Amino acid sequence: MSNDGVNVGRRRFLVAATSVVGAAGAVGAAVPFVGSWFPSAKAKAAGAPVKVNVGKIEPGQQIVAEWRGKPVFIMHRTDEILANLAKIEGAVADPESKVSDQPTYVDPKVRSIKPGLLVLEGLCTHLGCSPSFRPEVAPADLGAEWVGGYFCPCHGSRYDLAGRVYKAQPAPLNLPVPPHSYESDDVIIIGVDPEKA
Ligand code: FES
Repeated sequence: MSNDGVNVGRRRFLVAATSVVGAAGAVGAAVPFVGSWFPSAKAKAAGAPVKVNVGKIEPGQQIVAEWRGKPVFIMHRTDEILANLAKIEGAVADPESKVSDQPTYVDPKVRSIKPGLLVLEGLCTHLGCSPSFRPEVAPADLGAEWVGGYFCPCHGSRYDLAGRVYKAQPAPLNLPVPPHSYESDDVIIIGVDPEKA
């Protein structure tokens, strides 16, 4: 009789433990890209670094992370997109970010550590709206010259797929590149410079 009681109790414990593991697995499956650890809301507000898994971003696509309460655009750029950046250098206001905010360790031409992975703060440098991701070439509403970029819905500022603002826009500067580093090929840390990673 007492043995039966022990077994029933143990069985209940095992069922409960299995349920917890199942719930944790479901959360992991629902959020495939965003990092393996999550700082508390208080730590994030104070500027804690954020880890993001970038390994599953499809070519030509982007994900949006959050750092210091701001959106961070992370895009997988293709060779074609990189080739287009060179072609439109004459159309952007600050092609090598001489006056815009950008860490010294990114390539000044493509504004990233690895050419294929763009990391940008996603707030317009005019009045802070979040620009829309518009990677299509020559869509009807943006015109035949459009080779993909970011379009701010508030007052129409246009940026290319390096976050460089076009000439004669309301926005004065390129989208900032936040401090970031690579923990591995697939994981970046936003908020930590490479020399401190
Ligand atoms: S806030 Fe983006 S154009 Fe004004």
